[in-house]
Amino acid sequence: MQLRRLPRSGVKKGTRVLMRIDADVKLSSGRVRPGADWRLESAVEDIQALRKRGAVVVLCGHLGRPGGVVDETRRVKPVSAWFSRRLNTKVRIASGVVGPEVRSVIEQASPGDVVALENVRFDPRERKNSRVFGRELASLADVYVNNAFGNCHRKHASMHAVTRYLPSYAGSALVDEVRMLSKRRSRPFVVVMGGVKFETKMPALERMAQEADVVLVGGGLALALLQASAGLDLTLDGKHKIAREDVRSAQRALKHFGHKILMPMDMVVSKDGSLKRARHVNVMDLKRADRIVDIGEQTMSAYAKVLRSAKSAIWNGPMGIVEERAGQAGTLAIEKALARVPKSHTVIGGGDTITFLRKKKLGKHFSLLSNGGGSLLVFLADGPMPGLEVLKK
Ligand code: 3PG
Repeated sequence: MQLRRLPRSGVKKGTRVLMRIDADVKLSSGRVRPGADWRLESAVEDIQALRKRGAVVVLCGHLGRPGGVVDETRRVKPVSAWFSRRLNTKVRIASGVVGPEVRSVIEQASPGDVVALENVRFDPRERKNSRVFGRELASLADVYVNNAFGNCHRKHASMHAVTRYLPSYAGSALVDEVRMLSKRRSRPFVVVMGGVKFETKMPALERMAQEADVVLVGGGLALALLQASAGLDLTLDGKHKIAREDVRSAQRALKHFGHKILMPMDMVVSKDGSLKRARHVNVMDLKRADRIVDIGEQTMSAYAKVLRSAKSAIWNGPMGIVEERAGQAGTLAIEKALARVPKSHTVIGGGDTITFLRKKKLGKHFSLLSNGGGSLLVFLADGPMPGLEVLKK
C-alpha cells in the first residue's frame, strides 16, 4: 500500500500542521507510565522536522474511551507534559478540541511551537465520523498529517472526515509501519501470537496462518486452541470459561491450518501469580480450576527451536500474564529467541508486550515496535483500515 507523503513544499514558515498522533498510552499517578511511551516516541521525528521548517504543530489524539464526554482522568495533560520534556519545549494545551478558544491558542503560536488539543474523544462527534466535526478540526490547520497507525482501523472524524477538508498525508512513522508490515517475508516465516483478545486475534491468526510457515501460540489464545483440539476443559483464570464462539473459531483455525499451528505442551499454573507457588503442568493434566499464567519450559524450548531457524517473524501478544512474576518467563524466552532472527525482518506489536519489554529495556533488536494493538491485527487480517484508505496514493 502506497501512502501520500507530505511534500517539502507543503510546509512553510508558519504553516499549521494538524498531526493525528496515537496518544492512547497507559498512565500512572498522572504521568505516562514508564515503558508505555513508545507510541508518543514514534511521532517525535516528524514533529521535530516540522518545527525546524517553521511549522506550528497541532497535536490531536485520544486517550482511552471517555465516551464523548469530558473525563477528568483522560485529559491529555500527561501526554503534553511528556512531549514538553521530550521536545524540550513548552507544549501548550488548548482548552478544548475545537472552537474559538482553541483557535486563538493556535493563532498566538509562533513558528516551531507545539500545541496539543484536548482528548478528541471528549467530543461525541469524533466516533460518529461527523463531517461537521471533521471540518471544524480542519479549520484549525493548513495541512493534516496522520501518524496514528494504532487508530487507523477506526473510522473516526480525526482519522477520516477531517481529510475531506485539508491536504492530507501519512507521517513517516505511519509510512514506515505500513511498509514494514507489507514487506515480503523471508522464509521460514514464523508468527507468534498470545494475549487474550479473542475477537481480534482469532481472525488475525487465521489470516496469518495462511501465510506463515509456523504459528506459535501462547497466552489465553492457546487455551482456546487446546480446548478445541484436545477437548480439555479449561478456564481463563481458574474461574471464567472460554466463550463458546472463541472455541468454535479456534476449531475453524485448526481445521484449516492445524498442521502449521504449534500449541503449548506444558503450562505454568500459579494461584497468586507468585513464583513460589508456580507449578509446571503437562497440558493433558490441566484442571478447570488451574489458574494458568504462562507457557511451560518444554514449550519455551520447542518454540525457541522453531524461532532459531526463522528468517522473518511477527509477534503479537504476551505468552503469559506478564504483570505477575510467574507469568513472565515465556515472553522473555520468545524475546531472546527472536534476537536471532534478522533484525530487518522482525515486527512486534501489542501494547502489553511492548510495554513489558521496554520496561525491562529489551526489544532493541526488533526492526519495528508496531504502534498498533487492535489495528495491527486488523491490518494483518486484511480487514478495513479507513484511516489508511483516505491517505492512499
Ligand atoms: C488502541 O489502543 O488500540 C487504539 O488507541 C484504539 O483504541 P480503541 O480500541 O479504544 O478504539
